[in-house]
Amino acid sequence: RLSSEAIAHTSRPYLMSNPIEQGKKLAAYRAVDEYITAEHKVVGIGSGSTVVYVVERILQRPELKHIVYVPTSFQSKLLIIEGGLIMGSIEQYPDIDVTIDGADEVDEALNVIKGGGACQFQEKLVAEAAKKFVIVADFRKKSKKLGTEWTKGVPIEVVPMTYKSVMKSIDTKLSLKPITSKLRMAVNKAGPVVTDNGNFVVDTHFGAIDNPSQLLKEIKLLTGVYEVGLFCNMAEKAYFGEEDGSVDIW
Ligand code: 5RP
Repeated sequence: RLSSEAIAHTSRPYLMSNPIEQGKKLAAYRAVDEYITAEHKVVGIGSGSTVVYVVERILQRPELKHIVYVPTSFQSKLLIIEGGLIMGSIEQYPDIDVTIDGADEVDEALNVIKGGGACQFQEKLVAEAAKKFVIVADFRKKSKKLGTEWTKGVPIEVVPMTYKSVMKSIDTKLSLKPITSKLRMAVNKAGPVVTDNGNFVVDTHFGAIDNPSQLLKEIKLLTGVYEVGLFCNMAEKAYFGEEDGSVDIW
């Protein structure tokens, strides 16, 4: 079996059969190796399928076992617990050394759409608490302009009773008109997706977003909005695992 260094850096990369999974793993391993050191005390763990490889790589490095890990969702809590790592809460550890998280879409200025897994509130909290916020993703998530590439739209977490009024406000009060906005339903359609904070999610498509920070500000002002899946001016680096086995770093 190849070491992670070999997987990440070799000129004859070991290719997993699924290029998307390979991309997630390459990005995650490289970010852990370049950003988390034994000197760190507190590290934030994002959510999603790419972050599974972040924890996998942390577990391969015994010198990182003394670190306290702060989760961003029920899923990342389970990853920390099942990995036997030390877990801490944001109340106990409001100062985080580095947070590593996944993304749904990233532009060249490192504006990010997140919340595909409906975890954007806690993800933003833990990212904001960190001195360094780092994104890991596969090659599909790179975008020239948010809203134009691999996009699930902008997920907006709302207080449950406000989902209709927020959708109306999205239609009438924003400077960028939405193409669609929909309440996110559970896979079996039996009811809405409920976030870790007991809220609903409205998925809104705007097409190309010229000014993500402005859109974020406008959506946050709408009554009923709990958090928006737009992360602007937060990430300091993004790692993308490519189909050819390389890692593109922005
Ligand atoms: C969850 C998120 C995830 O980080 C994002 O959806 C990316 O997920 P994945 O790594 O599975 O592609 O924001 O709310």
